Amino acid sequence: MNILALETSCDESAAAIISEVGGKPVLQSSIISSQIELHREYGGVVPEVASRNHSLNLNAVVQEALTQADLTLEQIDGFAATGGPGLSSSLLIGHSMAKGFAVAARKPFYSINHMEGHLLSPFLSSCAAEIPPHLALIVSGGHTMTVAVKDVGEYSLIGKTIDDAAGEAFDKVARMLGLPYPGGPEIEQHAVNGDPTAFDFPRSLPSSLDFSFSGLKTSVLYTLNSLKEKKIEGQLLADLCASFQKAVTDSLVKKTLKSTKECEAQMVTISGGVSCNKALLAALSAGCQKRGITFLPCQPKHSTDNAAMIAYTAWFYHQKGLSSSLSSNIDPNLSLAHRS
Ligand code: KG4
Ligand code: ZN
Repeated sequence: MNILALETSCDESAAAIISEVGGKPVLQSSIISSQIELHREYGGVVPEVASRNHSLNLNAVVQEALTQADLTLEQIDGFAATGGPGLSSSLLIGHSMAKGFAVAARKPFYSINHMEGHLLSPFLSSCAAEIPPHLALIVSGGHTMTVAVKDVGEYSLIGKTIDDAAGEAFDKVARMLGLPYPGGPEIEQHAVNGDPTAFDFPRSLPSSLDFSFSGLKTSVLYTLNSLKEKKIEGQLLADLCASFQKAVTDSLVKKTLKSTKECEAQMVTISGGVSCNKALLAALSAGCQKRGITFLPCQPKHSTDNAAMIAYTAWFYHQKGLSSSLSSNIDPNLSLAHRS
């Protein structure tokens, strides 16, 4: 049993293959062709540029995934693609290609929620065939949420951002500081040499389980304005990055730990691009350890957008015998979970 999955929701063209070996989903190949360099000169993702490049790259990415897995297209038993959320013109490229493969091969098609891919991705490293109950913190460029997970497909929303996503805040603040896109890794790098207590940035909505990062972003802007002619470089840049990163990390960790009480979670996972951040991982890991809660982070290679998490999610739906209709459409605003 082999599943080929495509991911084109934003600026990564990705393909991956998962095979079932001894009843477990085993990742055979995961190819990611990043367009970050193309978008960097614009300071963010340009949808038109993204979709055009997906259509140029995707076939080669698929061929590479097949070669690396030592499989041919004829040996694929199911085709999956991200159906949303994401940029509509980009989603359409991967979704249409996977549907085309499925029609031609008369095999099932799986339209997968990108956020469900992130949510399950921490379990990919152990090829888990079952998902235990837990609280998932998903922190990506477009979303920030905590979700109580009972099983695959059984999710309830605990908290979400009421304005910017954590990754979006990293990207916007990096831009203010004159750092290139994507801002998260840049800020993390400069923060290493900075003092996280140098600037007292706000931690919004202290008593809520929801998140808010736009006040923090505005506070960084006011601070920059107050620094007037000072050049934002060296130690000053490092201190601004460290203080901002600490403010984001404090909010994410505090609310996640508070949410574990709400849903009596014994396990916490973290996924999405921002989960590459080592300061965040260390703080959440320490907080969980203190409370006797198991902490399972996503491997860095599966944190930013990839097709392995889409193939993994599709494998669970294949197990359940739940394929998607060939007339299913993409949904740029597809949601994952509601409050129960
Ligand atoms: O999950 P992802 O690859 O794409 C979306 O689905 O949005 O997340 C991308 C986001 C970007 O905002 C990027 O700045 C952020 O993840 N990011 C980081 C780090 N690496 C990537 N944020 C903080 N620290 C990092 N090391
Ligand atoms: Zn993502």
